[in-house]
Amino acid sequence: MESKFKKLKEEAIMALKAVKDKIDLESLENKILGRKSGELTDLMKELKDMNAEAKKAVGQIANEVKKEIESALEQKKRELSESDWQKSLAKEKIDITAPSLPPFERGHFHPNTIVQRDLEDLFSSMGFLILDGPELESEYYNFTAVNIPVDHPARDSQDSFYIKNHPNWLMRTQTSSVQVRAMQKYGAPLRMISPGKCFRNEATDVRHEHTFYQLEGVVIDENINFGHMKGVLEIVAKHLYGKDTEVRLRPKFYPFVEPGVNGEVTCFLCKGKGCRLCKETGWLEILGAGMIHPNVLREGDVDSKKYQGFAFGFGLTRLAMLKYGIDDIRLLESGDIRFLKQF
Ligand code: DAH
Repeated sequence: MESKFKKLKEEAIMALKAVKDKIDLESLENKILGRKSGELTDLMKELKDMNAEAKKAVGQIANEVKKEIESALEQKKRELSESDWQKSLAKEKIDITAPSLPPFERGHFHPNTIVQRDLEDLFSSMGFLILDGPELESEYYNFTAVNIPVDHPARDSQDSFYIKNHPNWLMRTQTSSVQVRAMQKYGAPLRMISPGKCFRNEATDVRHEHTFYQLEGVVIDENINFGHMKGVLEIVAKHLYGKDTEVRLRPKFYPFVEPGVNGEVTCFLCKGKGCRLCKETGWLEILGAGMIHPNVLREGDVDSKKYQGFAFGFGLTRLAMLKYGIDDIRLLESGDIRFLKQF
């Protein structure tokens, strides 16, 4: 009898160890302790047929076995009702005497971004859309659509980063690539700017870098003329360098405009007298512009008889360099934190 109880205890403890969830636990509990047909209950019932002496001895063991099984069941119950996060929380300790982490350093914008955002604000106040364009561009949008002939030297792989085994794809060399994309998407009339990164296969030095920023602009409507263009460019120049700043436009050939100009502003350092910054000329060259060539309007599905427009491209990197007196363009893309922290 005694050994029956001990065997039952061992079996019960073994079975309990294997239990994984509450349902199994409940049925095991029933199987052992169930009032009607629990294994232990049945064994206890057999006690009453024994003589008083034996009943006393075995009864004591039986009670111990029962207690042990019950407490093992209780413990298993507790284990199963603790969820995983409670378990890991119980293990976690917080050491309130540990020294605190160093404070987070606040980030800030890159000088190019500061200049870009400032101009985005100005242009959106004049009703311009601000558009993005892909940096990985097709030869069509980068060159063909903006009237750059097939044999133009700018298309040369010495100037452009073409994609290996994909001769019609390159890293855009100018934000002018967004002009025809914008016309095709929004049609005329149109007022938009598109700032962004451009890439050229340059030998780098203090004034040349393979990656730089431009800001393109397009205005198309009925009866748009050269005077509108100069007016907009003057607003930008005065915004950047003060109300006494003047704009000087001189003829320059760009395939996508006719006539085309390069745009200079009064040197903000010497106010036009001539200094080291403007190389004694009194003027700083910051943009290209012109009246949009009809071929470009046509590529953009804009009726070139009904609509005219002007386009301009600012050297955004150049504007940032002028604003902050940066004399080596390579610093801007260097990722050197000592340089960037100054802005
Ligand atoms: N895309 C020209 C460049 O990279 C800049 C430019 C000139 C843009 C004249 C224009 C423009 O929109 O009309 O040098």
